[in-house]
Amino acid sequence: MHNPNFLIIDSGVGGLSIWHEIQQLIPDSHVCYVADNGAYPYGALDESVLVQRLLELLPGLEQHYRPDIIVIACNTASTVVLDPLRAQTTTPIIGVVPAIKPAASLSASKHIALLATPGTVKRPYIDRLMLDFANGCRLTRLGSPELVHEAEQKLRHLPVNEDIIREVLAQLKLDEQDIDVLILGCTHFPILHDEIRRLVPAPIRILDSGAAIARRAHQLLQQMPGPQAHTTPLTRNVFLFTAETPHAHRLEAGIERFGFDKIRFLGETTTQNDQKPGAS
Ligand code: DGL
Repeated sequence: MHNPNFLIIDSGVGGLSIWHEIQQLIPDSHVCYVADNGAYPYGALDESVLVQRLLELLPGLEQHYRPDIIVIACNTASTVVLDPLRAQTTTPIIGVVPAIKPAASLSASKHIALLATPGTVKRPYIDRLMLDFANGCRLTRLGSPELVHEAEQKLRHLPVNEDIIREVLAQLKLDEQDIDVLILGCTHFPILHDEIRRLVPAPIRILDSGAAIARRAHQLLQQMPGPQAHTTPLTRNVFLFTAETPHAHRLEAGIERFGFDKIRFLGETTTQNDQKPGAS
């Protein structure tokens, strides 16, 4: 029986919130998780730089790990890179984008808020989502690089600064407005869900895209005829950073609960333990 193989990529630990949901729904799956810390944070990159980065990075990873599904576990990237990426591969690609459609249908006040990276909030993709799925809804947008950093800290068991989270959320003026749904439109933010929940007034719903992405992956796998003949499935999960830094090493303890036993760096040779014999 073939265990589904995923290739999941984000700038850092954010995509682990997506991998967590996939693991819950499809427990027999394995992943090569890529944290592109060499280009972190994606939210600060020009669109063209980000697109180029992923177009260059993914083919080698795909060829080596031969995933059944690639997940771009990053809203900042998915809102700009999905079309060019899909044009260069036949492997199914799932992109993570802000949960605007479910937020709009949940909202009674028809005023929703999007908390994402500075890159994501200004993307035309968001305007299209609003037009297609949230017509008649008002959207308040806030871009925050600070929360991305706090999530990176949290998974390294480093102090999380709750004052910073409070200051960021204060900019949304949730007490004064009729916003009733808050979208976490960055995969890093569900890692801070508890901290954010404590600071957001109780009636306001907080939504992210994780569970929907896992359901989409499950559905795609059901439609697949079976593994490709050339597929050499992973037998354990691989966590890869694209750059070796002391900060990257600090993540060692934090990734255990996501099913990884060690951190690797792009360019290190993969051992036979990671893949069934015959893997290239
Ligand atoms: N986790 C990413 C997202 O969903 C990006 C964080 C960053 O590198 O700025 O947008």
